[in-house]
Amino acid sequence: MEVVIVEGPEEVGALAAARIAELVAARPRAVLGVATGSSPLATYRALAARADAGLDLSRVSAFALDEYVGIRRDHPESYHAVVDREVVRPLGLDPALVHVPDGLAADLDAACEDYEAQIVAAGGIDLQLLGIGTNGHIGFNEPTSSLASRTRVKTLAPRTREDNARFFASAEEVPMHCLTQGLGTILDARRALLVAHGAAKARAIAEVVEGPVSSMWPGSVLQLHRRATVVIDEAAASELRLADYYRATVAHRAAVQPGA
Ligand code: GLP
Repeated sequence: MEVVIVEGPEEVGALAAARIAELVAARPRAVLGVATGSSPLATYRALAARADAGLDLSRVSAFALDEYVGIRRDHPESYHAVVDREVVRPLGLDPALVHVPDGLAADLDAACEDYEAQIVAAGGIDLQLLGIGTNGHIGFNEPTSSLASRTRVKTLAPRTREDNARFFASAEEVPMHCLTQGLGTILDARRALLVAHGAAKARAIAEVVEGPVSSMWPGSVLQLHRRATVVIDEAAASELRLADYYRATVAHRAAVQPGA
């Protein structure tokens, strides 16, 4: 796993946006996996600035990681609404190329299968952007999620509902269920890029990067990915035992990759 430690949240966003911009420059029809939550917002802001400066994202496809079950699409906290507000509009994506799981489907299992088929039909995800929950979830793959799981219905962990209560009028209003890409789905992406900032994420980052691969810290499945990068700020890196090694690796990279 590549671990890059930068100063603060804005630097996390700038670096992640640079990686995504590099991909889109090389592949204008790239397929991006997009995450919701506060972690990737700085990345989207930095990408929007690049779009304003001429980066063309209009042919990029996007697949959201997850969606709540039973919440109206025009609810401001539905992930349909969040993706539209934070990603599609500021980045200038074509809404026809943007996909979010259907948490209102009459047959949720069929909607999950259909979502997997849509990802395959698009040629698979080139780069999956990820945040991480304080309990180590990625997407909404809560602790004890199968490491081989596919898009499916999940029950939110109490910790996640508490964490996300800030987006709703009350804790009770946070939905109980969601649809989420599985850990196996995420592993299929050609690249994974996890962003995190702040001390509240330090434990999860330490477990995911340096702990054993375990469904108790679902993000640790990224240790099995061939091209996973973790971009974090100093606060989120504060519980890493090998932080100095990661810093040295980045500092000396040019010596083994001329031109990098
Ligand atoms: C949310 C999302 C995840 C996100 C995580 C962390 O509920 N489903 O995709 O990565 O929890 O959220 P935040 O970035 O706001 O801390």
